[in-house]
Amino acid sequence: MSGLRDGTTSSLEAVREGEVPTHVAIIMDGNGRWARRRGLPRWEGHRAGMTAVREAIEGAAKAGVSHLTLYAFSDENWSRPPSEVDALMALLEEYVRSQREALTRHSIRVTVFGDRMRLPQAARDAIGELELSTAGGTALHVHLAISYGSRAEIVGVARALARRCTRGELSPEAIDAECFAGELLTREWPDPDLLIRTSGEQRISNFLLWQLAYAEIFVTDVLWPDFTQEHLFGAVVDYRGRERRFGLVKT
Ligand code: FPP
Repeated sequence: MSGLRDGTTSSLEAVREGEVPTHVAIIMDGNGRWARRRGLPRWEGHRAGMTAVREAIEGAAKAGVSHLTLYAFSDENWSRPPSEVDALMALLEEYVRSQREALTRHSIRVTVFGDRMRLPQAARDAIGELELSTAGGTALHVHLAISYGSRAEIVGVARALARRCTRGELSPEAIDAECFAGELLTREWPDPDLLIRTSGEQRISNFLLWQLAYAEIFVTDVLWPDFTQEHLFGAVVDYRGRERRFGLVKT
């Protein structure tokens, strides 16, 4: 893992000069601390975080990234105080409704994965409309992890495979990594090449545990609401300097 990067930034010109990761995933962290430092309620930090979401999407599209996955709400986040959960759900719905037209116009496809049945009906409706409206987007595919937990996802895969074995459609010996990955919620897109986590915490936090097996990890101490396109470009340029070995030795 990389050491902490103190707000490393880079320019679009520098990003365009070389290889760009196909898939960037981000653990957006630090909204609460951002608010506390300003004497504001936590929800103000989440609201400010919405601006950073726009920055990340715009930056990824400009850089030529194909897939951007954002960890917006984890399984564990349901245990936060009800007032904060309500505020996050309201912001999510507001974001989805307010950005739909612009995302569609910029050909950005958005899909959501996670246990959406736990979301309030209004948020579910807004997400469904956004997915439908942006379905034809080809510039960038944004995946929002909402009410998502990787262990729950992996348990779901185990159950699905067990059911197929019980029905006699699959033999346990035929289960390999490819077969397993074929049951993941993320099965239709490539694994992340680069994971960015903001606010300095060096943890994976139950995010894409299977899919991040070979991802490069970039931790920045920038708090999520302060994250800009230039921070994303900085992470991409840093990624370019890594030697990805996928468990092999250098030849
Ligand atoms: C972590 O900060 C962030 C979240 C739990 C939620 C992320 C949500 C947004 C950025 C807003 C809307 C998102 C979308 C996709 C519309 P934290 O509260 O854990 O911060 P802390 O660690 O400083 O307390």
